[in-house]
Amino acid sequence: MEVYEKLLNCLESVRSKVNFSPKVAIVLGSGLGDFADRIQQVASVDYHEIEGFPVSTVPGHRGRFIFGYVESVPVVAMQGRVHYYEGYDIQDVVLPIRLMGLLGARILLLTNAAGGVNFEFSAGDFMLITDQISNFVPSPLIGPNLDQLGERFPDMSAIYDRQLCQIWRQVAKELEIPLREGVYIQLTGPNFESPAEVRMCRVLGADAVGMSTACEAIAARHMGMRVCGISCISNLGCGMTDRPLTHVEVNETADRVAPLFQKLLICGLKAIWNSV
Ligand code: HPA
Repeated sequence: MEVYEKLLNCLESVRSKVNFSPKVAIVLGSGLGDFADRIQQVASVDYHEIEGFPVSTVPGHRGRFIFGYVESVPVVAMQGRVHYYEGYDIQDVVLPIRLMGLLGARILLLTNAAGGVNFEFSAGDFMLITDQISNFVPSPLIGPNLDQLGERFPDMSAIYDRQLCQIWRQVAKELEIPLREGVYIQLTGPNFESPAEVRMCRVLGADAVGMSTACEAIAARHMGMRVCGISCISNLGCGMTDRPLTHVEVNETADRVAPLFQKLLICGLKAIWNSV
C-alpha cells in the first residue's frame, strides 16, 4: 500500500476511536514507560487496534498511544516506539510520528536511552539533543515525496528547534538538573557498537549513540513540526569501560533516573506550552 494511503487509513482508524486534539507529541524512550502514569488520560489506543500499524516487538516497549493532559498540556504520547532494527521499512518506522502530526501535534518531544560517546558524559546523565547524524539508516523521505506533508528537499539546518532547546536549558537550570548537550547519531542496531564503531561515532562528531530518534526527527521536520529531544545516557559506549554492555544495564540506568527524567519532562512541557 502507498505510504500516504496507509497513513490516512491509520489516521481514520484512530479518529474513529478517539476525539482528542493533541498539541504536543511525545515519544517515550526506554525507562520512560511509567511517564504514562503522569498523563491525565483521556483515551488510549493500542497499536494492535490500528489497522496496518507497525507493532513494536521489543520487551519493555508497550505499544500504545496515550491521549490526555500533562498538567494542562494536551498531549499524545507513544508508549513504545517502532525501531528500524525490528525489520520495518523506514517509512513504517516514522508512520506514528506522521500520524501524531496529522492528529494535530505541532511540537514533537523525542526521548531515548543512548550510549555516551563523549568521554565527559556519565551513565545517568541527560543530554539535550542539539543536532544529529542519521546517515547510517535510510532517510524516511526516500521514495515519492509526500507532497501533502512537505517538500521534496526539506531544510535540516535546525532540526532541533532553537527556542525549544533554550526552554529546556532554562527549565533544567531551574530544577538544578544538569543537562548535557550534544549530537545524537543513529545506527541501525540491534547489536551494540564495537569499540571501533564507538570511536568512529566520536570522530564523526557524535556525543551519544542510539538506535532511534534521528529518522523520526527528519519525518517530523519534513511536515513542519517543531522538534526537540532529550537522551538519557544509560551507559558509556562499548570500549569506553572494561565491561561488556547489556540491555539490562541500559534499562537499569534508565529506570534509576526515570523519576528525575519525568520531572524534567513535566516542567519542560509546561514551559513549552506557555511559550506558544
Ligand atoms: N548504543 C546504542 N544504543 C544504545 C546504547 C548504546 O550504547 N545505549 C542505549 N541505547
